[in-house]
Amino acid sequence: MKPDFVLAQISDLHIKAGGRLSYRKVDTLGALKAAVARLNSLTPRPDAVAITGDLTDFGTPEEYAAVRAVLDTLTLPWFAIAGNHDSRPAFRDAFRDCDWLNPQAEFIQWCVDRFPVRLIGLDSTVAEQPWGELCPARLAWLQEQLAAAPEKPTIVMLHHHPFISGIDHMDRQNLRDADALANVLADAPQVLRILCGHVHRFMVSQLGSTIVCSAPGTSHQVTPDFAPDGPSTFSLEPAGFLLHRWSAVNGIATHYCPIGQFDGPWPFYDQNGLID
Ligand SMILES: [Fe+2]
Repeated sequence: MKPDFVLAQISDLHIKAGGRLSYRKVDTLGALKAAVARLNSLTPRPDAVAITGDLTDFGTPEEYAAVRAVLDTLTLPWFAIAGNHDSRPAFRDAFRDCDWLNPQAEFIQWCVDRFPVRLIGLDSTVAEQPWGELCPARLAWLQEQLAAAPEKPTIVMLHHHPFISGIDHMDRQNLRDADALANVLADAPQVLRILCGHVHRFMVSQLGSTIVCSAPGTSHQVTPDFAPDGPSTFSLEPAGFLLHRWSAVNGIATHYCPIGQFDGPWPFYDQNGLID
């Protein structure tokens, strides 16, 4: 039976222009094309794709043109929030024709209400800074959205992780004052998940009583080094995405899916039962 709603989540695309490699190492554009091809081939098809920030590497119009050209080949509805590598003005210019974006608003925040699960995108970025913040204005907007539909299952997303990952250089640039977000969500039990990116790893944590999932990057992954003052490095571990599957009967479950060419699927059973 088809579940009531499936949201695919990709994150941290870090697209560069002119075929340049990110950090002189990573073909982020090729990796995004592979991710989009995989999303387009999923059966059953997800209902939507959420992109949780860092669409570009340096926030230039050329990088947005490059990422938009690939996103236009995605055959599923998609929505995006900004990350610390994005630029609000260039982001608005690149996506001003998208119905989820309000190009007049100060912050890139949106609420999509046409699915069985409401999707709320928050703007946790601070211009020119790597860390995240949700100021009183952004939190008040969130509170207003949540109060408008307290009974409807809801997923909230932001770029910066509102928890401690254990990766020191990333935790120095996480969401500041995550308690303020937790306080808003304390009155909103309809929020099933908080989704984020930024840490370039699949991680599961908690904010108050809400489960938080961070998505892996579509290209490079941050090294899981828990040493204090560990170096800021990445590796080319398999890229991936998340599928958040919700049904009215069974609630929500999150799946991690690596991106790549893998052997299979192969059956467990044949006509004689479990294959020995
Ligand atoms: Fe990133």
